[in-house]
Amino acid sequence: MLQIFQTAHYVPQKIITNEDLSKMMNTSDEWIYSRTGIKTRHIVETENTSDLCINVARQLLDKANISPEQIGFILVATMTPDYQSPSVACQVQGAIDAHQAFAFDLTAACAGFVYALHTAKGLLHDLPAGQVGMIIGGETLSKVVNWQDRTTSVLFGDAAAGVLVRSSEEFGIIKSRCYADGHYAQSLTSGFIANQSPFRLSQEMISDKLNMKGRDIFDFTTRTVANSLDEFLGEAKDSVDYFLLHQANVRILDIMAKKLKVDRAKFLQNMEYYGNSSAASIPLLLSESVEKGIIQMNSHQQLVFSGFGGGLSYGHILTTI
Ligand code: ACO
Repeated sequence: MLQIFQTAHYVPQKIITNEDLSKMMNTSDEWIYSRTGIKTRHIVETENTSDLCINVARQLLDKANISPEQIGFILVATMTPDYQSPSVACQVQGAIDAHQAFAFDLTAACAGFVYALHTAKGLLHDLPAGQVGMIIGGETLSKVVNWQDRTTSVLFGDAAAGVLVRSSEEFGIIKSRCYADGHYAQSLTSGFIANQSPFRLSQEMISDKLNMKGRDIFDFTTRTVANSLDEFLGEAKDSVDYFLLHQANVRILDIMAKKLKVDRAKFLQNMEYYGNSSAASIPLLLSESVEKGIIQMNSHQQLVFSGFGGGLSYGHILTTI
């Protein structure tokens, strides 16, 4: 089984409050907090996604007390890389000198971390004995949001968080499944790259900024994703200790708990302080919960991760830790 055995997270220093945003645009703390559950978010001043991810990678090595040569692969889930090439994962690999590791990025928006863990199950089989995998979700969404658009810019924050994984007989992923529905691809777009060919016959005028039909995704999540999570868990639902869902909106967590008929207190949350950090949100919540002692390594606690977002893509993981 794929076991998560170390966690770490990093957020940029600068904190932007709802009050700060209300001085920049026609919004208010009352609207943002009551509609989303978000109070503050961290925003980069000088850093890019690779800087946040490299910080997390160094912490993971330090905390686990392992050498970079023991890393067999590095997988970074991000929709806001520094470049299209090189990947953030290769930038991390170089920065920490993990010269035994292959490295690549994976894009599944807010489902990115769940997609990465699901993918990594297959990668673990080929690792030489003693090697481990590094999986990081890292985003600087502040560089793709349209800061004139109050309907999206108030939602997102910058962050990175990650885990080390290895094979284990005792702890790990019991079950995982990923899904996509590209019919809703236009519900969330970001980073459009126009045809620049000198032979082009026409030019599409699409913004490269993040554009989201929030209500459509809200409805999709609270219907389709909720139903699929319920079906995915089946009877196993009753033995879950904590649910770590993508941190997009507190109202989504409320509805999910109600639909699944699960005690709301089992749904951990931290979007109040970080907003929606896309692929970073689930590992950030996991790492913080480990730091606070709510989640304990080697405790046999059962956890559910569920990510959903652009694509539309979504996925679920049931794991022991
Ligand atoms: N301040 C004040 N008013 C606002 C703001 C704001 N920041 N933003 C929107 N409004 C107004 C709108 O203009 C609208 O006004 P109107 O009724 O006069 O037209 C009203 O508030 C309601 O707007 P809605 O968009 O219907 O608000 P809703 O209750 O749906 O909340 C939100 C919007 C928070 C985006 C919600 O739909 C949501 O959380 N959606 C899911 C997002 C999500 O899960 N995304 C996936 C992950 S992201 C990823 O993959 C990168």
